[in-house]
Amino acid sequence: MSDVTRTPVVAGNWKLNQTIDESLTLVRQLREAISGVDGVEVIVGPVATALHAVAGELKGSNIGLAAQNTHHEASGAFTGELSPLLLADVGCTHCIVGHSERRQLFGETDAGVGRKAAALQAHGLVPIVCLGETLEQREAGETLGVCLGQLDASLDGVAVAGDRLIVAYEPVWAIGTGKTAKASDAQEVHAALRARLREAHGEVADSIRILYGGSVKPANAAELLAEVDIDGALVGGASLKAETFAPIVEAAAG
Ligand code: PGA
Repeated sequence: MSDVTRTPVVAGNWKLNQTIDESLTLVRQLREAISGVDGVEVIVGPVATALHAVAGELKGSNIGLAAQNTHHEASGAFTGELSPLLLADVGCTHCIVGHSERRQLFGETDAGVGRKAAALQAHGLVPIVCLGETLEQREAGETLGVCLGQLDASLDGVAVAGDRLIVAYEPVWAIGTGKTAKASDAQEVHAALRARLREAHGEVADSIRILYGGSVKPANAAELLAEVDIDGALVGGASLKAETFAPIVEAAAG
C-alpha cells in the first residue's frame, strides 16, 4: 500500500441543459458558494455552445472546464464534430468520454473511447473516462467483469498518470434514476478498478482519481466519499444548481 493522497475531484456534467446566460449565472453562483472551500478540484461541464463564455467567466478561478464529448481527430472532414485541439483552444482542461448515454444512445465503443482519451491527452487535456454496468449485468453478477473489461479496453493506448487521467465509475442503473449504489458496493468496484490499474501499470494506480457517479446529491455524498477508493464524484442533476452542487464539493473537501 502506498501513502499517496489523492486530491478529490467533483465534476458537474450539465448534459444537454443550460443556455449561455443560464450557464454564466450558474458559474457565478457556484464560484460564490464554494469560494471558501479548499482541497478539492472542481470541474464544470457545460454544453459545447457555452464553453467559450464559461471559460471567460472562470478566468482567475481554479475551477476546471470540461467538454462532454470530442472526436479523436484534430481537424478534417468530420462535419458536426469537435476536436481536442478546438477544446484546448476554447479553454477546456478536461473532457468527459465514454459516458453511458453516449455508449447507449450514440453507439460509442471502448476502442473509440480509448482513441478519444489518447487524443485528448495529446492536446494536454485530461479525459474523464466513464464506465459502468447496466442493471441486467449487475443482476447477472457480471458487474466486476464488465467494469474491468471496459477499463482495460477503454485505456488501450492511454497514458495512466494521476495528472493525465480521471476514471469515473457510473452504474448505468443509478444515472438520473435517484437510485444510488450502496457506498460499500461502489467501494468494491472502485477497489477492483484500482487493483486492475495497479496490476497493469504499477504504483501509479494510487495516484489515479476514480470518481463515483449516479444520483450523487448532498444527502448521500459524504457517505460515498468516505470510502477509501472513491476519490470524488461526477454529478449530473445535482450539478445544475449551486445550492445542490456546492454541498457535494464541501463534502469532498472533508
Ligand atoms: P446523475 O447523472 O447525477 O443525474 O445521476 C450522473 C451522470 O450522468 O454523470
